[in-house]
Parts: sequence; structure tokens; C-alpha cells
Amino acid sequence: MTALFEPFKLKDLTLRNRIAVPPMCQYMATDGVVNDWHRVHYPAIARGGAGLVIVEATAVSPEGRITPNCTGLWNNAQAEALAPIAASIKAAGAVPGIQIGHAGRKASANRPWEGDDHIAADDARGWPTISPSATAFGANLPKVPRAMTVEDIARVRADFVAAARRALEAGFEWLELHFAHGYLGQSFFSVHANERDDAYGGSFDNRSRFLLETLRAVRKVWPEHLPLTARFGVIEYDGRDEETLAESIELARNFKREGLDLLSVSVGFSTLEARVPWGPAFLAPIAERVRREADLPVAAAWGIDNPAIADATVREGQLDLVMVGRAHLANPHWPLQAARALGVERPTWVLPAPYAHWLERYAGA
Ligand SMILES: Cc1cc2nc3c(=O)[nH]c(=O)nc-3n(C[C@H](O)[C@H](O)[C@H](O)COP(=O)(O)O)c2cc1C
Repeated sequence: MTALFEPFKLKDLTLRNRIAVPPMCQYMATDGVVNDWHRVHYPAIARGGAGLVIVEATAVSPEGRITPNCTGLWNNAQAEALAPIAASIKAAGAVPGIQIGHAGRKASANRPWEGDDHIAADDARGWPTISPSATAFGANLPKVPRAMTVEDIARVRADFVAAARRALEAGFEWLELHFAHGYLGQSFFSVHANERDDAYGGSFDNRSRFLLETLRAVRKVWPEHLPLTARFGVIEYDGRDEETLAESIELARNFKREGLDLLSVSVGFSTLEARVPWGPAFLAPIAERVRREADLPVAAAWGIDNPAIADATVREGQLDLVMVGRAHLANPHWPLQAARALGVERPTWVLPAPYAHWLERYAGA
């Protein structure tokens, strides 16, 4: 028996297996509204057999978009357009999830295949950015953000709450707060981005405050019986890794106390100084440590596209959920391929019945 194809129960949901599709921006929306592309992309991936499909980083406000083509949940029209996406993921047998976030100082950028850099100051498509402090990320993202006031912080927190409400109304059953990858949440925690000297900067407690307050506010509107999760960069690979990891694990414990159900363990991406040790499943041992020391279910992505490695991360207790991203873009039926590679009995049954039945019935014909 493989571990990868064991069901996973969290709150009132049971995922059909341990394979999750992590959020992957498509940069194809107009005014934050999904369209035919998203209506092709999401169900195509969901029917491939994954237990959970998380819709891409969806902005809680216009200023929170990474690019002008990011999806949004700051108005009802956006939620109405997302509802059929959630329904189609569910019809394909996966749990429909969505990641909500604010891009902070990395906002107002061109799409990756159109430069991946900040939109030029004289280009009307761009907008002013905000962050805990007025320091730019640098390199291709040189725009200096405005340091947020306490009123800004309250407004963004309220935007997260409103987006969470709309996500629920749209039919999503799994919510992920985007506190990773150098965007706004991560920037509050990161010493590379937060130079504040008020209650939101400096000490560990102060740098945690925005994230914990936002989580607490969202938990009040997100139903108890459904998973509330976050993606957070627990490590920066900037040479201060033991210290950052110890703080991150303490934060994960505090997340749990505020009602977080699972942490998607990722990298901070807050500094150009980072030296990330790319390689197959390189985050799995880090995620295992968070899982053990914070006593919280965890997921992780990054280079886990080999079925045997994916299975081992679950079997050996490193991960509760395996996030398989780019491999799903190349092959939405990655779960079927994995089931075959792992020698799962009747592997076609990882697919929905209308496919599985016929593949099985005429297997030898
Ligand atoms: C096209 C693309 C878009 C992405 N967009 C997001 C996103 O919206 N939110 C996020 O947290 N990570 C995003 N990521 C990171 C992925 O979720 C994932 O962590 C990464 O692809 C590594 O996993 P993989 O090696 O299985 O592809 C994106 C990655 C890709 C390739």
C-alpha cells in the first residue's frame, strides 16, 4: 500500500489522496475576473486525480495584485466568476481551494513572460505599492513602496476578511492565506523587509502581529468545519537559517493557537542574498521539523515530481500533503502516472469513475 494514495482528513473534508496542486498564478485575468482560460485550466488539472486543487494567488485588493492580470476577490463579480471554477474542481473529485493574498512591494509587475519586472513609472498600467517599510526588494523589482500606516494595516486585514467571505460564497472549501514568497505577509515577518519601530516591527511578537491578527480575523468568518491554512516561508537561506527557522516554528505554534489547520511550508524569498539549495524535495526535511516541533499538519512543494520520492515524504512522516506544481502543468494526469509507477492496485481508479471504469474494463483489449 502506498502512503501517497491514502485519503487525508482535515476538519470535515476528506481528500481522496495526499496529492495537492499548489497555487500557480496564470496571469490571465482581466480586472481580477477569471475567464475561459481559467475555466479550461482548473478542471483539466482537477480531473487528473489530485485530492486538492488550490486556485492561484488571488488578490484581496487591486493594489495587492502581482500583475494587472492576477485574479481578485475584492468585488462580487469576481466571486461570481470564480464559483463555476470551484464547482468544476469539485465535480472532478478534488477539494476546491483558493489562496488569497497581497503582493506588497512585489506588486505592480509585468507578467513573467513579459519581463517579470516592475511596470515602469510612466506606464499607466502600474500602481503605487505598499509594504511594512519604504524599502524596495531590488534587482528587477526596484520600486520603493510606501510604508503602511496603522490605518493601512487595518484596511488590508479587512480586505482579507472580505475576500475570505467571498471565497466561501463562491464555493471554496479550503482557504490558504498567502504569507509567503516575499509578498505582504512575509514582508511583515522578514527582517529583510520590515524596519518598523512601532507595534508591527522589531521584536518577534511585533513582526508576527500582522499575520496573527489577519489569521484571527479571517478565522472568525471562515467556518470552523472547513480547513483554514497558510503558506509561509519558514526559511530564507540567507545564512541566518537556524534563527529564522526557530522563530518560524514558534510562529507556527502561534498560528495553531489561533486556529490554523495546516501550514504549507515554503521559502521566504524576501532577499536577493538567498542561496536556495534547489533539488528534489529539498524542503521536506524542513517541513518535517515544523510538523514535529509545532505539532501541525504540513504540506510542501518544490521539486517533488518523482512518485517514489513523493510517496516517501508521506510514508516517512515528513509531509501530510505533497504539493506537485509544474509536473501538473506538463501532465494533468500526474496522479495516474504516479499510481502506475508505485504499483498501486487498479491505478486507473485514481481517476473519476467515468474514466476509470472504461480504462479498467477494456484494459486488456
Ligand atoms: C506558473 C507558476 C505560478 C505560481 N504561482 C504561485 C502562487 O500563485 N502562489 C504561490 O504560493 N506559489 C506560486 N508558485 C509556486 C508553486 O506553488 C510551487 O511552489 C512551485 O512551482 C514549486 O513546486 P513544483 O516544483 O512542484 O513546481 C507558482 C509557480 C509557478 C510555476
